Amino acid sequence: MNKEELQALVRDKLKDYPFIVVSNREPYIHSWVGEEIRCLRPASGLTMALDPVMQACGGTWIAHGSGDADPDVVDKDGRISVPTEAPRYTLKRVWLSKKEEAGYYDGFSNQALWPLCHIVYIKPIFRQQDWETYNEVNRRFADAVYAEIGEKGAFVFIQDYHLALLAKMIKERCPNVITAQFWHIPWPNYEAFRICPWQEEILDGLLANDLIGFHTLYHCNNFLETVDRTLECRIEREKHAIVRGGHSTWVQAFPISVDFAEISARSGREEVTKEVDRLRHEYNLRQEFIGIGIDRLDYTKGIVERFKAIDLFLSRNPRYEGRFTFVQAAEPSRTHVDEYKKLNEEIDELVEEINWRRWRSRWKPILYIKEHFTPFTLSALQRLASFCIVSSLHDGMNLVAKEFVSSRADGDGVLILSRFTGAARELTDALPVNPYSVDDIAKAIKAAVIMSKKERRTRMSALRATVQENNIYSWANNIISEIAKFQFPEG
Ligand code: G6P
Repeated sequence: MNKEELQALVRDKLKDYPFIVVSNREPYIHSWVGEEIRCLRPASGLTMALDPVMQACGGTWIAHGSGDADPDVVDKDGRISVPTEAPRYTLKRVWLSKKEEAGYYDGFSNQALWPLCHIVYIKPIFRQQDWETYNEVNRRFADAVYAEIGEKGAFVFIQDYHLALLAKMIKERCPNVITAQFWHIPWPNYEAFRICPWQEEILDGLLANDLIGFHTLYHCNNFLETVDRTLECRIEREKHAIVRGGHSTWVQAFPISVDFAEISARSGREEVTKEVDRLRHEYNLRQEFIGIGIDRLDYTKGIVERFKAIDLFLSRNPRYEGRFTFVQAAEPSRTHVDEYKKLNEEIDELVEEINWRRWRSRWKPILYIKEHFTPFTLSALQRLASFCIVSSLHDGMNLVAKEFVSSRADGDGVLILSRFTGAARELTDALPVNPYSVDDIAKAIKAAVIMSKKERRTRMSALRATVQENNIYSWANNIISEIAKFQFPEG
């Protein structure tokens, strides 16, 4: 499936009904840099995946306006056409106060739901005040949807754990909508989920949707089990549906992906070649083996385990000292949350200690770059790499793995991939690791550096075929085809 086929499908299936996407994170952020306004792309798998879909389908994307220059570039209703250089759809921004952001985003979304759904042994924090703010902010998003569509028929596609109550709130006010929600993070088992004091309200909010999507069948089954054991309802297992109060919600797996064709083509562009040269020169990246990691600075990503594994690999294989550098591109994330502040400090100290112990002349084993990266720089890093490590302790999908594969149009490069990512189920030609085992990662690094060119090419070719086949347009096609099957309540 490609962009043009998706466009034809949307014209055919969604007809003239408005298509609205709602998420917390916006796909384009406007920021002041000195006297100038710059447009940045956030480090979010969700927005990177959905932007090409919206560019193909058109419609309106409603999201939190989080950039300091965001209010300066929109019209009086908070709208702007994006991408600004060649507009394809409308971004409508919802404004939140600092207090709302603290309770809804830093609080309930990222200190309660995020650690609740990612089993990495960080205790969720449930504060009554955060929960109340989360409710209020979900209502603010519902108001924004209502302002867009009123009582007309429309398809509303809700994203992620920030907006678990939204479908119910929308349906109370807009009776003629069909809503689907995609949960981009794992859904834990019942035992883990039931510690949430508002489990019933969250499930009740989600079940107002006509369709709920997860990355894997395993997460779908966890969700069905959680609902079955928490609420009065009927589960139709063969159909993967939940029937409650006369309303059915279909629950299905849709493994998300990336724009394979675009990323693959980008990696060969002149700008990327120039960026490869700049990086080599600026950071003295001339070693025989370059490993890379690209992540938000998040405790689910297993960055500490990865660095310890690099240290262990060098202890066991000293002949690689000076011949191998690991480049970690880390994008600061959720910086007001304590666990993220702690992680930031822990990683700084660990890198400093490993590099201090091992440096020689101009060489050090880990090049740790903590900043915001453009898509060109990321493509350049991916092209430079002998191997890429994705060592998430738990991850719904992990699109860095799929981006790395897409960017290797040269057919080379090795992917080391945590077994605990959704991507591991599809990318079976990667080198699988248990990221909790530093030893396992160290052995995979060794396997990557000694792998023959023939084996690297065979594996990469299989990985590329998988991502090319199940690309972001196939993902959108599968979901849109499902939502188009629902009848609008008014017939
Ligand atoms: C995960 C979530 C997304 C989120 C992204 C970045 O991928 O599923 O919803 O956008 O992380 O996190 P942030 O908090 O910066 O939006």
